[in-house]
Amino acid sequence: MSSTWPYPKLIAHRGAGRHAPENTLAAVRTGVRHGFTMMEYDVKLSRDGVAILLHDDTVDRSSNGCGRAADMTLKELAELDFGAWTSKEYAGEPIATLASIASYTLANGIRSNIEIKPTTGAEAETGRHVARLAQRLWAGADIPPLLSSFSEVALAAAMKEAPQLPRALLIEHDVPDDWEDRIKRLGCLGLNLNHRYTTLPLVRALRNGGYTLAIWTVNDMARAQELLNWGCNAIVTDEITHITPASLA
Ligand code: G3P
Ligand code: MG
Repeated sequence: MSSTWPYPKLIAHRGAGRHAPENTLAAVRTGVRHGFTMMEYDVKLSRDGVAILLHDDTVDRSSNGCGRAADMTLKELAELDFGAWTSKEYAGEPIATLASIASYTLANGIRSNIEIKPTTGAEAETGRHVARLAQRLWAGADIPPLLSSFSEVALAAAMKEAPQLPRALLIEHDVPDDWEDRIKRLGCLGLNLNHRYTTLPLVRALRNGGYTLAIWTVNDMARAQELLNWGCNAIVTDEITHITPASLA
């Protein structure tokens, strides 16, 4: 069976997280302004079980607060500033919820790659919860969000909860020899790979097997072009001013 890729070939990383505060609505809007039609963003759960956008386990690096998001309620998170650490221009930017980002992206025809990024220990719960919510939020959408995760536990839970939502397995470093078994076990379209470990033979093996490949985080135009020429379906980039949909067309 051959997996199809219904998404664009260019995806903005963490919204457009290098040019605006990562994983916020401001970042997503910035990506859209630069012509991007698909966003990758990281999602985990607050203490009261709300799906929020956040990369790290703690809010320390990306807000004016400190502590683990899993120990804070949405109300507590909403009091923090997730923008001022990048520039005055973004002071007061609030935490984004998955629900608010779904609303904005759906209203603007933007595709989503939801990276399920659980706090350690909350893998199954996060996979289940994010899949259930995504299924509800995107119920009327023509193209569903792509769920991805480094956590196979989270992906398995997402598969059980919402089997029809497309999934991809993220691989941090070297691709394990049993990659095809893992893809099949998790019912994934394919793999989302670190570009530093992406080689032409690997791309050929995956694509000949009928699996999809999205490659992150590619910030060099020549490398982006090479990976797409090799047959990768998409690249995820921080370089939204340099690697643009128009420049790759
Ligand atoms: O989804 C690909 C990429 O976002 C994984 O790395 O650490 O930026 O979430 P990270
Ligand atoms: Mg990510």
